[in-house]
Amino acid sequence: MSHFASEVFSHQAVVIDGELSIGGVNAAHLAAEFGTPLFVLDEADFFDRATAWRDALVAAFGENAGTVYYAGKSFLCKEVARWLDVVGIGLDVCTGGELAVAQATGFPTARIELHGNNKSESEIRAAITAGVGTIVLDSFVEITRVAAIAAELGKVQRVYLRLTAGVEAHTHEFISTAHEDVKFGFSIASGAAQQAIEDVRAHTSLALVGFHSHIGSQIFQSEGFSAAAHKLIALLARYRDQYGEELPELDLGGGYGIAYLPGETTLVPRDVLTELAAVVTAECAKHALSVPKISIEPGRAIVGPTTTTLYTVGTTKDVTLESGAMRRYVSVDGGMSDNLRPALYDAEYHAILANRTSAAAEVDTRIVGKHCESGDIIIRSIGLASDCGPGDLLAVPATGAYHRSMASNYNHVPRPAVVAVIDGKARVIVRRETHEDLLALDL
Ligand code: LLP
Repeated sequence: MSHFASEVFSHQAVVIDGELSIGGVNAAHLAAEFGTPLFVLDEADFFDRATAWRDALVAAFGENAGTVYYAGKSFLCKEVARWLDVVGIGLDVCTGGELAVAQATGFPTARIELHGNNKSESEIRAAITAGVGTIVLDSFVEITRVAAIAAELGKVQRVYLRLTAGVEAHTHEFISTAHEDVKFGFSIASGAAQQAIEDVRAHTSLALVGFHSHIGSQIFQSEGFSAAAHKLIALLARYRDQYGEELPELDLGGGYGIAYLPGETTLVPRDVLTELAAVVTAECAKHALSVPKISIEPGRAIVGPTTTTLYTVGTTKDVTLESGAMRRYVSVDGGMSDNLRPALYDAEYHAILANRTSAAAEVDTRIVGKHCESGDIIIRSIGLASDCGPGDLLAVPATGAYHRSMASNYNHVPRPAVVAVIDGKARVIVRRETHEDLLALDL
């Protein structure tokens, strides 16, 4: 049923007389002014969530709170980098491109962490030259590569080792990252982690300051995070026993789940981190280890719920299925180019009619995009007012993370704008692409 369900919308979203308003701005007015598809980002909501994670880390770990590194891959632009700086949290980048966005705003490089399983020499050089706080090492090739570049630049680079704890996170296989058969990190079980520790220690241009683990994404059960913490803390203890010194930091990654459908619940930072702190403290006590500074890397949990996509309905079509039943197709002006997640992960979404109320009965509807693919589906099945038709506005919530950042130009469709709304005002923070933008690349 396509009702307004506050749990999947950003905090400043409301429906008044059938009309959706976000951050005090009417959705139909946004569509008229900026066009559709449109990503509408609730700025106050972003600040609330970023601040909540920052404060929860301090509340849970006290003086052992490290840094909240916002995972830039979820959605990054210059304005977001400025907001992160205002909140005073860090940034996880995993390419030279993400680093360039941060640098373009003068984001404090000491609070940047560089990730990636295949960082190029030029990316590493750019990062070390810029003075990024931490580089997360992911392979033996990379240990040698980063060490050589740091030496050449006359720097000692702080590094973490990314470790795979052998944890099966309960999420889609493609967004699960800490079982053994993955491209990421060094496996603890196989002994690769131990070898990596020795290799890093052999380089005077590298300063090993901690371990890192990211078990996957869109995870709700705390067992995965706890299991990873167990394994990594045991390894910290082994390190202390072996080398007579403690590593001061531990980064437990991101992956905290959010609501996409009515009835689901976005994880609450305080709850998650209080539970994690209990596990970390107990494990460290068991090994007589000081609690290291704990950092985390939430992306989706900060930006995911902040954004709603607005689409305009273009066509509708009734199709008779083999069973004799009827299915209505409602086509909107975007699709898999602005939301790849249903095609990639069978992800499910909610939608509402955003421009008016309707007294019409709901019919089973499939909301699809405008691309030349049958799999270009945004919602497989949702009850939508039967009179929903051309010109109507649909709103799909929880599209802040991994939507604009994974958007494509498939079928030469320009990527949508991102508009920030707050206190009744709207402003473009990423402009819509034009055909000229696309043609400019085409020589
Ligand atoms: N840290 C590392 C090392 C990561 O690889 C990721 C996500 C994060 C943090 C942030 O995870 P989050 O808190 O956002 O769940 N495209 C997929 C998600 C892939 C996530 C990749 N890494 C999706 O749309 O669900």
